[in-house]
Amino acid sequence: MSSVGKVAADPTARMVVLGRGPVPGGEPVLRGDDLGVLRGDGLFETMHLRHGRPWLRDEHLARLAAAAAAVELTLPPPAALIELLDTARTGWPAQVEGALRLVCTRGPEAGGPPTVYATLTPVPASSRAARRNGIGVATLPLGVPADARTGLDWLPAGIKSTSYAVNSAARRWADRAGVDDVLWVSSDGYALEGPTANVVWLTGDTLCTVPAATTGILPGTTVAWLLGNVGELGLTATERMVTPAELHAADGVWFTSSVRGLTEIHTLDGVRRAGCPRTHALQAVLGFPVP
Ligand SMILES: Cc1ncc(COP(=O)(O)O)c(C=O)c1O
Repeated sequence: MSSVGKVAADPTARMVVLGRGPVPGGEPVLRGDDLGVLRGDGLFETMHLRHGRPWLRDEHLARLAAAAAAVELTLPPPAALIELLDTARTGWPAQVEGALRLVCTRGPEAGGPPTVYATLTPVPASSRAARRNGIGVATLPLGVPADARTGLDWLPAGIKSTSYAVNSAARRWADRAGVDDVLWVSSDGYALEGPTANVVWLTGDTLCTVPAATTGILPGTTVAWLLGNVGELGLTATERMVTPAELHAADGVWFTSSVRGLTEIHTLDGVRRAGCPRTHALQAVLGFPVP
């Protein structure tokens, strides 16, 4: 059976609900008629809690606000969201890396305020292992051209919606295929992103990622920070389209995301890559513990 999406119950896990405060992990939080459940109609952010603080918190809140505007979902004021996150992290041991999730659903079907809550769990050992050991990735067709989503003016693109059924299906496919993760490829042949990560590659002294504005992929907070700060390694940064063939020829290829951080792709479509000597330096730019 697939392990995708299943997280073992953790006695240290926390949950805090707006308007209710901390609740025990097993306590019901959503109504059965919440549109988050009925339609996957909601938004979320996952932040990396390090030294007890959510890294890039304001960038995550800004992305959430942009997504809320795009789907016409009214969020509580930022101060209330920050207080919710602060309540969730109070007393969390500074040495334990955490995954701090903020969820805002559209609320009851008959109308009513969004349901807003935060969860905090330790970063899974598998994520830390991926940072250390790298991952094997297979390309997977997404079935639409790279500009399909941004070409539709009614469709909000690049939002972190709770509708992750397609992403979960891709991760289950990865499980069945015996790879750690997948990289979606458009029908016109461009690599886009993974189901929970952006792709980054190095060509010479240029670190690259895929443009979110023209493809509708998620504009990652981690990759934005990385590309904004690689100057300290003497690298330049750019956004451009890329094919899997170009990735095979790149000097390094990685996935980035808030919780896994920067993970080297050691195998792409069954082809083992030479490890990139820059991996640890890039992880250090992101401030992740270097193995
Ligand atoms: C589809 C998708 N792309 C990219 C990312 C990486 O975004 P971030 O670096 O903000 O975590 C995620 C994170 O979960 C994601 O779900």
